[in-house]
Amino acid sequence: MRNVKLGVNIDHIATLRNARNEKNPDTVEATRVVLSSGGDMVVMHLRGDRRHIKDADLERARREVKGLIHLEMAATPEMEKIALKIRPDSVCIVPESPNEVTTQGGLKMAGNLAGLEKITRSLSKSGIEVSLFVDPEPQPIRAAHNIGADCIELCTSKYSVSWGKKLQAKELEQLQLASFLVKELKMNLHAGHGLDYYNVVPVARIEGMDSLNIGYSIISRAMFVGLKTAVSEMKRLIQ
Ligand code: PXP
Repeated sequence: MRNVKLGVNIDHIATLRNARNEKNPDTVEATRVVLSSGGDMVVMHLRGDRRHIKDADLERARREVKGLIHLEMAATPEMEKIALKIRPDSVCIVPESPNEVTTQGGLKMAGNLAGLEKITRSLSKSGIEVSLFVDPEPQPIRAAHNIGADCIELCTSKYSVSWGKKLQAKELEQLQLASFLVKELKMNLHAGHGLDYYNVVPVARIEGMDSLNIGYSIISRAMFVGLKTAVSEMKRLIQ
């Protein structure tokens, strides 16, 4: 058995909650369901504009639930301060721009190395595992390794939107080659973005894959079958 771990991103539980600005659906309740249904960790992206997850969601999950919390955040002084205070178990540094609907590809390392290195080393020194979200290419993977990242999360967006067997096989090969390099550098290997029940298996089968972070497809399916079933079905697929 491969035992690939599943991180379940619950941002869109908060999106629904925010539609009415009330308490339901409660992100702490969602965290408990995720962790008791096969999810190995709960994932939250605290954005600069707080459009879905709010600071209180992260604080309450840390305080009220026993389990692994993985925080996605931009490399800003504000987010560094929050991470050092709340102490998630792991952090993924992602690019963020104000008008994007969702994360658009991996980090641009060139020109941003000093800032990324400062925050990576600061979080890592405090015992938080740090991953960098990068496109499946050698240059950003090597750069992330050089600045002290513990882990690489490969961006699977291009693979996920690729249409037709030929194009999908090409994007999968790109992910496989990148994974090989990550493992050669002795880093942990994560992947995510746009993965769903139909495209996840080949990515889960990549040699050395440690963890997949998946949100939108699981929360969407949960609308029809419930969160418990949606999470456990995904876990079964990737194992
Ligand atoms: N990984 C990273 C770094 C992300 O930014 C996101 C989206 O928040 C995901 C994984 C999950 O993507 P999706 O919601 O498309 O499954």
